[in-house]
Amino acid sequence: MKDRIQLGQSELKINPIGLGTNAVGGHNIYPNLDEEAGKDVVRTALNHGMNFLDTAFIYGPERSEELVGQVVKEHGKRDEIVLATKGAHQFKGDDVVFNNRPDFLKEQVEASLKRLQTDYIDLYYIHFPDDDTPKYEAVGALKELKDQGKIRSIGVSNFSVEQLKEADQDGYVDVIQSEYNLFKRDAEKEMLPYTADNHISFVPYFPFASGLLAGKYDENTTFDDFRAKNPLFQGEAFKENLAKVDKLRPIAERNEVDVPHVVLAWYLNQPSIDAVIPGAKRKDQVVDNLNTLKVDLTDGEIQMIDEIFS
Ligand SMILES: NC(=O)c1ccc[n+]([C@@H]2O[C@H](COP(=O)([O-])OP(=O)(O)OC[C@H]3O[C@@H](n4cnc5c(N)ncnc54)[C@H](OP(=O)(O)O)[C@@H]3O)[C@@H](O)[C@H]2O)c1
Repeated sequence: MKDRIQLGQSELKINPIGLGTNAVGGHNIYPNLDEEAGKDVVRTALNHGMNFLDTAFIYGPERSEELVGQVVKEHGKRDEIVLATKGAHQFKGDDVVFNNRPDFLKEQVEASLKRLQTDYIDLYYIHFPDDDTPKYEAVGALKELKDQGKIRSIGVSNFSVEQLKEADQDGYVDVIQSEYNLFKRDAEKEMLPYTADNHISFVPYFPFASGLLAGKYDENTTFDDFRAKNPLFQGEAFKENLAKVDKLRPIAERNEVDVPHVVLAWYLNQPSIDAVIPGAKRKDQVVDNLNTLKVDLTDGEIQMIDEIFS
């Protein structure tokens, strides 16, 4: 597997194994996060040749961008890093709404630039669609920012295929990020064929289904965060899901790697999936995920994995 690929039609060259950072300062997502450990995760990724970092305003909120920004600054080689962030959440009192209005997105980009301590963002995503802004207008605002050099490529996230088509009517969208993993494969019906035909990179989030596909849990594992309510982690369904993950072990052994690497390699064989952004809470997980680059699944193995999870 190549260790540098081009992201969509953009000029960005990335290591296909990126890093998701919602556990870096994402105090509103995970309890008891250690910020220094989070910064160490990012530092380790950069020191091991991963250059694609994924954060968002809402992780923290704000704190993930701040911590990632500190590590990028300390690393020094800004031009070697491909920094992706997202915006659309707007706080109104205790409520949070999605806002894709051009003026709001432009304000959000300015605020992200400050938190990230940088002059440009390599990939800026509209994090969620709102109900009323025409999607081509929202993307048009990002195109203006791209022309000004404040962002280098345009992404959308959590958009339906219809919303993506509207957003991309002028051909400006480089990347879409949406939930996709071996337990949640809806994107295969329409989204992946569309992105493949239109040279848009699809970046799957929750690639390990929040850790379930990393092959380290058993039926006695308990969770104290949002996973405690996730349907994949409940009762009989949890046991059945663990049994499916177990079936990946012989494939991992044959490839002299572990389950997470086979899982990530399988995604990278799907049309238009050029990169993955597994999250990590510990630096050893970051280094471990790079073993994916050693995996070259056979057609038979790709089909076998497809059947286990179909
Ligand atoms: N666009 C969106 O709306 C959206 C939504 C969600 C996430 N995201 C992005 O997608 C990224 C990935 O999602 P995620 O981090 O929530 O979930 P994930 O990648 O599916 O799972 C991450 C978890 O997998 C486990 N893990 C990672 N590497 C491992 C390894 N080598 N061996 C064993 N276990 C390993 C860790 O679990 P433990 O906790 O058990 O250590 C880690 O916390 C996020 O960080 C974020 O950047 C985007």
